[in-house]
This record gives sequence, C-alpha cells and structure tokens, in this order.
Amino acid sequence: MGFNNWNTTACRPEFNEAMVKAIADIFVSRGLKDVGYEYVNIDDCWAEPQRDANGDLVPHRTRFPNGIKAVADYVHSKGLKFGIYTSAGTKTCNGAGGFPGALNNEQRDADLFASWGVDYLKYDNCNNQGVDAQVRYTRMRDALANTGRPITYSICEWGRTGPPRVWEWGKDVGNLWRTTGDISDNWTSMIGKAQANRSLARYAGPGHWNDPDMLEVGNGGMTPAEYRTHFSLWAVMAAPLLIGSDLREVSEDTFTILKNTDVIAVDQDKLGRQATVVSASGGHVVYSKVLANGDRAVALSNETTATATIGTTAAAIGLGGSASYTLKDLWTKSTRKTTGAVSASVPGHGTVLYRVSRGGTSQRYEAEDATSVSGSTVDRNHSGYSGKGFVNTPNATGSYVQFTVNAAQAGRHTLAFDYAHAGTADRPASLSVNGTAAGTVPFAPTGAWSLWRTATAAVSLNAGANTIRLTATGTGGLPNLDYLDTLEVGS
Ligand code: GCU
Repeated sequence: MGFNNWNTTACRPEFNEAMVKAIADIFVSRGLKDVGYEYVNIDDCWAEPQRDANGDLVPHRTRFPNGIKAVADYVHSKGLKFGIYTSAGTKTCNGAGGFPGALNNEQRDADLFASWGVDYLKYDNCNNQGVDAQVRYTRMRDALANTGRPITYSICEWGRTGPPRVWEWGKDVGNLWRTTGDISDNWTSMIGKAQANRSLARYAGPGHWNDPDMLEVGNGGMTPAEYRTHFSLWAVMAAPLLIGSDLREVSEDTFTILKNTDVIAVDQDKLGRQATVVSASGGHVVYSKVLANGDRAVALSNETTATATIGTTAAAIGLGGSASYTLKDLWTKSTRKTTGAVSASVPGHGTVLYRVSRGGTSQRYEAEDATSVSGSTVDRNHSGYSGKGFVNTPNATGSYVQFTVNAAQAGRHTLAFDYAHAGTADRPASLSVNGTAAGTVPFAPTGAWSLWRTATAAVSLNAGANTIRLTATGTGGLPNLDYLDTLEVGS
C-alpha cells in the first residue's frame, strides 16, 4: 500500500520534490499511514537524460535539486518507505528518447538506489532490446539482493511476453508483477484490467502478487460508484493499493474511499488469497475471497449500465451448513442476517461488497496439527494456506488425516474442510466420527494446488473430544488438506 505519482502527473513539472514531500506529509496528517499506506514511490522522469562521468544516474536538477537521497530521508523521517523507478531496458519509457535504464547497469543502479535508502523498485519494460524478460528481471533481482538492503521488487513487464508468462515465473523473481498494460482513468480501462487480472488468482500469494496497475481513485475520470468498484475489485483481488491521485487536491470523497478500513482489511487479509470468480454472466460478476478467519469477502459487481439483482449463496462460496449468516456491507456499513442468500440490487457500474460470516461458533483445527498416515508431510510450497502449512499425504487408498476436535455441546455440527488439488478426478474420502462411518466427502478438483476450496459435511458430535478421520477411498489419495473448521448447528 502506498502512492505513486504517475497516474496524476506523468512527467509534468508538478512531479518534483515538493510534491513527494507533501504526499508523505498527507500520509501522516490525513491518517493514511495509520490505515496502512506505507510506500511513497516516484515514477519515470526523476533523472537527468545522461549518466554522469562515472556512469551513475543523476537526479533531475530542477525536479530534485537536493537529490533523491534527501527525499528518501524525508520520507523515512515520517516513518514511511520510499520507492523509485527505472526500466529493464537501455532507456526508460518517457521523455525525449527516455532516461537511462538499467539494462547492463543492473548492479551499478541497484547499488546507487540502496545508497539512497530506496525500499521499492518498479522496474519497467521499455527499450528492452529484445532480451528475454525472465533474464532481465532476474538480473535485477540478483543485483537488488547483492545490495544487502531489503527492496520490494515490482516487475512491470505488463504481462506481455511468454509463455512462460510473468505470473508463472514472477513468484521466484519479484514481489509483484503487472498483469496488464497501463490503466487509464476511465471505466473501460479500469474494468478491463480487472477482467484480465481476475482469472490469475492461483498465482497470487503472500509476498508475490498479481498487479493490475495503480489506482485511479480521485483522478476525476470515473464516477464515485465506479471508483468504489475499482477499489472493491482491487481489494478482493488482493492487489497492491498504490494511490495514483494528487492528495493535495482530491475531494473528501476520495479520502473516504481510500481510507475505508473494512475494504483495506479485505485487501490486506493475512491469508493472502486472491478472490476467485464464482459466476460471471452478462456483465454480472460475483467474486469471493476466503479470509483468514473463515469469512468471505463477496463482491457483487455490475459491469453493465442497468441496475440488476446480483447474487450467490453461502453454499456456493463454501460456507454452507449454517442456519444463518451475517452480511456486512463494507461501503454502507449496514449489517443484516440471511439464511444463505448473498444478493443485492446493484446499480450500473456499481459493486456491493459484503463480508459474509457464518452464524454460530466455529473452531479451527489446522491439518498440520492433526495426526496423519505415515509418509505424510507438512508442506508450504503452494501458497494461500492457513497456519504453518498444509498436509500432503501419500497418493494411495487408505491415506488418512485424523483430527481431534472439541464440541462444547452434543449435537449437529458442520465440518468444513479447506483443501486443494489440481487433479482432474475427485479424490473421495470416507469420513468417520468417533470410529463410526459418517458418509463421504467427494473433494472435487479445485483447478490448481494454490486454489483452495471448502468441502462441508454434516455430522453429530459428542460433547467434549471427538475423533474425525478422513480416509482416501481412491488411489489418488487425499487432496492437500489445510484446515478443518467445526461449526455448531444446534441439536
Ligand atoms: C503434487 C503437488 C503436491 C500434491 C501432490 C498430489 O506433487 O505439488 O502438493 O500433494 O501433487 O498429487 O497429491
């Protein structure tokens, strides 16, 4: 979370030291820092067109008369972080002929950035001389690592080259990668970025994010409803939230959107899963993002111009098996109960964003704390898991995971298993409770090892301790198992 000047100033003269310092001031004075905005980043046109006699980059003499380090120091003095920009090419993208890029100067430029106290690098893709993207971006990764300074690394390759595409290799190279070309401050551009980004959920996870580009909220080219849609969709997609408007000039409405802590909490949720699309038809799109505490953030998004009722159900978002649900509208802040419908009338270009919680008390049991068949491992190689990892049992009939759960009272409970498997056939399991057969769980494919889903089963538990065992009935074995939530349904 932070700021980048590009979407508001591009290379115009108002991009200068005074602006960057003012943004840092406003982050503090207007409480943006308090709600999580941290990085104050500068984009292209911060440099002189030529390197100096040593071959080093030179800060633009008019925009940054005191150099970049002075600006970084100022940003740091506010308890914030400072980011810079260059290109993985011989020149950057803008200005007459571009400014010097870092291709073939990776270590020199990384060292200079580190000496200035840079905390973040956006690394663009212009003038790349046709050198393979993976090669170019990996070289800068290594150069940044060599500096010894932690620097968040933003790969700005626009999702352009490959296969392999940047989302397939970006995880091992950078912390975030652009999945699209540049956003502009209008509905068509913004929703196009969302449409391209939303199918890439499997690639996002803690420390490696899909980036559908910086925010346009506050720049004036969209209606308030469209900007709320923009912010809502970036939040459910766990996208970087880099403010792209001039905070010295924006309206109070802009601050209200940018400082909506309920929406920010969805974006920053520590499980780090990107929403998946539950349904999309005729411009009516339902997104669901599993949150760390088991709630779902559900965006009901209307890409058409006509008001429409858009909805889904608790069961469809993996929350089945509860008698009632609470829906909190994260924009109006109103709360209501339902028995399972998650639906709203949504104006054209609007988005209703709910946080959906199960009624009743639930309890989480991590699979890595359960007992499992010998040969099982606790793995971390597929992201989005809760707790310390997930359990991978041998691919064989009879593989099992056994949980011991506690019920406050005897009676009906819902078991909700969080799991993933990228196979094409179900991986069915028999379920037993306290040694007695209690049905089967099909464990349908989730589409990818990093796409997690919830399978539910209804069982009766005794008061106190209960043994719950899943045993694979097919040779594929069990899926990867993340956790079991138990929920009291009543007697
Ligand atoms: C892959 C995957 C594992 C998974 C295994 C399986 O190797 O990376 O996480 O457990 O397949 O088929 O179960």
